[in-house]
Amino acid sequence: MKVFHLSVECFPVAKVGGLADVVGALPKYQKKLGVDAKVVMPWYNKPFVHENEFEVVFDGFIHQIHHMYQVLVLKEKHNVLGYELYLVKIPGLLDRDNVYGYFDESQQFIAFQQAVLHWLSAMQIRPDVLHCHDSHVGLVPFMVEYCPDFEFLKGVKTIGTIHNGEYQGSMDWQMSNYMPRFDAWKWGLLDWKGRINPLASMIKCCHEFTAVSQGYMDELYEEAQGLEELIRQEHRKAHGIINGIDVEVWNPATDSMLDFNFSSADFTEGKRKSKEKLCEEYRLNPDLPLFSFIGRFAGEKGADMLPDIIRRAVQETGGELNIIVLGSGNLQLEHTLKELRKEFYINFALDLGYKEYLSHKIYASSDFLLMPSRVEPCGLNQMYAMRYGTIPIVRYTGGLKDTVKDIASGGYGLNYTFPGSDDAVHAIKRALYVYMDKELMKNLRNVIMNLDFSWENSAEKYITLYEKK
Ligand code: ADP
Ligand code: GLC
Repeated sequence: MKVFHLSVECFPVAKVGGLADVVGALPKYQKKLGVDAKVVMPWYNKPFVHENEFEVVFDGFIHQIHHMYQVLVLKEKHNVLGYELYLVKIPGLLDRDNVYGYFDESQQFIAFQQAVLHWLSAMQIRPDVLHCHDSHVGLVPFMVEYCPDFEFLKGVKTIGTIHNGEYQGSMDWQMSNYMPRFDAWKWGLLDWKGRINPLASMIKCCHEFTAVSQGYMDELYEEAQGLEELIRQEHRKAHGIINGIDVEVWNPATDSMLDFNFSSADFTEGKRKSKEKLCEEYRLNPDLPLFSFIGRFAGEKGADMLPDIIRRAVQETGGELNIIVLGSGNLQLEHTLKELRKEFYINFALDLGYKEYLSHKIYASSDFLLMPSRVEPCGLNQMYAMRYGTIPIVRYTGGLKDTVKDIASGGYGLNYTFPGSDDAVHAIKRALYVYMDKELMKNLRNVIMNLDFSWENSAEKYITLYEKK
């Protein structure tokens, strides 16, 4: 079975968040299960991408109502990721440094989708499945069925995965000028409430769609940023499939980004030394419990609540804990946290930016990982943390509900219900009691490091969906 994963992120080529981790790992595990899985993504000017490591497998043009672009498809030569990787380069449009944030983002994504389908049609490559990840490639199911240029692909099975329903790619109808020719009678399949909405279109036109956890799928029926009614209508096609993690990349025993490796069988020394080193670097006291936050400074992640949580946690515990925050994405919050760092420099450390190596060190060094998310479709941080012996403190939502069981109900983490600093600080205080009980800490670490979050089960579930008649 030939499956093409279409995405604008894929680790390690280009990563902004968990989408990259998922698209980077899932095909690897699917290959182990006998599926010929490949990834197609845009070209970026990134360190991973060196022209000489790629060969041009297609050179052509795409036409839109008012535009024409050159398209190059480049294949990675050495299969370094364990599966075939294709990058689509459109000079002037898809050859940028960053994944998101450009004024012409909608044009970029439309052209990417058109270019992929054009290449496949022109080369007469007919996949069994086109697996579309998030709204950026949400127009593919429509294009496959209703764009005459892609007649060759008509009927190919399309699967849509919602990693994040907050971002729908909604755009003005004027943007239809950037679409390939399509059957105008079918315009309603692009539309949601007067705008072209790629995520809505994906849900309407794909054969099956998934959300990245059952917990999140259940929430989408109630609240999906205006798409809940559509999701309820299309419930027969809806499935919740929890993400896994790449246990080869995320393995504390072999992780080369760590200063000290450790395993689930022997972690005490490794974790202690990692924590001491990190605390030394950030001038924190290693004898205190270390709480961490890693993530995008977005409302969904509850990042805006951090200043209040940190201030209250330090004050209300008499400074009996340390907190380290790694993240970026909101200038105002960055500024507030910098000010807070000055005020609470004994207990609070901050590193702004995106730093893959540092995230690994923090997962390894921390005692607790804080995820005050308002919305969390799946969340990978909590799974990485657990694999590295760090106990998650999570707001009970989406994928966090499915992956973190509270100690109070026989589990191994700490959950709280209401988003906001009250419950978060309460959970932190509970964590301090846990921390004081060395035996309990050790047992919990033992449990979480041995939990199975690998991709095998979920990779299999996707395959069942691909095969569904
Ligand atoms: P999301 O995709 O919504 O950001 P996930 O929990 O699925 O959330 O995945 C986040 C991924 O991004 C994890 O691999 C996490 O370690 C990583 N990450 C987030 N922020 C940073 C950062 N500032 N530096 C390094 N890694 C980060
Ligand atoms: C999104 C979600 C996150 C999820 C990730 C990978 O970015 O916000 O919760 O883990 O996609 O599916």
